Amino acid sequence: MKLAVVGGGSTYTPELVDGIARLREELPVSEIALIDPDAARLDLVAGVSRRMLAHAGHPARVLATSSVAEGVAGARAVLFQLRVGGQAAREVDETLPLRCGCVGQETTGAGGLAKALRTVPLVLELAESVREHAPEAWIVDFTNPVGIVTRALLDAGHPAIGLCNVAIGFQRRFAAWLGVDPARISLGHVGLNHLTWERSVHLDGEDVLPELLRAHGQEIAGSLGLRPGLLERLGTVPSYYLRYFYAHDAVVREQRAKPSRAAEVAAMERRLLELYADPAVVTKPELLAERGGAFYSEAAVALVAALLGDAPGPGAPAGPAQVVNVRNSGTLPFLPDEAVIEVPAAVTPAGAVPLPVPAVEPLYAGLIANVSAYETLALEAARRGGADRVRDALLAHPLVGQDETAEELTDLLLAANRGFLPWA
Ligand code: G6P
Ligand code: MN
Repeated sequence: MKLAVVGGGSTYTPELVDGIARLREELPVSEIALIDPDAARLDLVAGVSRRMLAHAGHPARVLATSSVAEGVAGARAVLFQLRVGGQAAREVDETLPLRCGCVGQETTGAGGLAKALRTVPLVLELAESVREHAPEAWIVDFTNPVGIVTRALLDAGHPAIGLCNVAIGFQRRFAAWLGVDPARISLGHVGLNHLTWERSVHLDGEDVLPELLRAHGQEIAGSLGLRPGLLERLGTVPSYYLRYFYAHDAVVREQRAKPSRAAEVAAMERRLLELYADPAVVTKPELLAERGGAFYSEAAVALVAALLGDAPGPGAPAGPAQVVNVRNSGTLPFLPDEAVIEVPAAVTPAGAVPLPVPAVEPLYAGLIANVSAYETLALEAARRGGADRVRDALLAHPLVGQDETAEELTDLLLAANRGFLPWA
């Protein structure tokens, strides 16, 4: 089976290759095509990927190419993991909103909007190339902002599913605390990409979230940067992206006082590329664990394996639910059917079908609906351009919302991203 990776020159790629090498029983890959416009970087990443596979005794060959047509031809699944403008553009997303007193984050708030504006048109162009050269292939999108990008792909008629590692991260952490195989844990994960809550944690059918919160609530709150009392009151576990909402002003103060995550990651990437250039490096470097993408490879392998596996016969048990980004289609009745949500789904070769979700409390539903409406406007702005559309999206975002701030941020974001936006 051939797998293609658009943005294959990412320093994250060895995480994926490591998963493919370890999980060969689950997903037999014979070729990995790494597609990237940056030839020098691609060369280093392809080199270490080949050494890792050889070291693991895995037979897959690695094709490195700048040609999307060549890379995707014959692929059964195409992974999108690109970042338009690299860490330099991310740095702008993370710092510019701070000038207006708003959180600086690559997927949440104004920074996420800027990223969507740069990313959606290119992703749609790349997806057309996939449609032409690999019409049977599934597109698995890890490119942020995943909710908006996935919706853009689905609206354009592509067979796409969005993926994020937040849910699998919680699943692994809870399983470790409980001392059980992660496959026995299923999450009551609900919301939009990077705006989710775990409302239940089922171990073999029984909800163990209350006892997890009793035993580890302090630790969870600490790792999320939230006050333990909040988790106690909610009785749920928000993703760490909720900190940008629940502790917005504190985050802004912190961000103003320290270097951006983009700067940190850029420094890490330089060190990673040095390691990838070293012929003695034949396994995933420890340093990669300091990036945010833990378990990304496992989630990706499981998803592709379910999409390409055998369709379950009538009466056969469905595989374990996987948390993915899919069309709402009535799952959350307070959102439009076309919205993209992040929930557990049954995944088969026919696609991902969201499982029913218990009624969502107003405390979460309000914010989900608000951000979903923002995503609709953000996608409009990304597809059609225009400063007014950008301003509307910012006005609709709960972390911006004020007219003057929206206007100021629109001007700043468009000026800073002009090189990526032909209409600006
Ligand atoms: C998590 C998120 C990803 C995001 C990443 C950032 O994995 O789910 O969507 O891209 O963190 O990690 P980084 O190391 O680049 O800050
Ligand atoms: Mn994510």
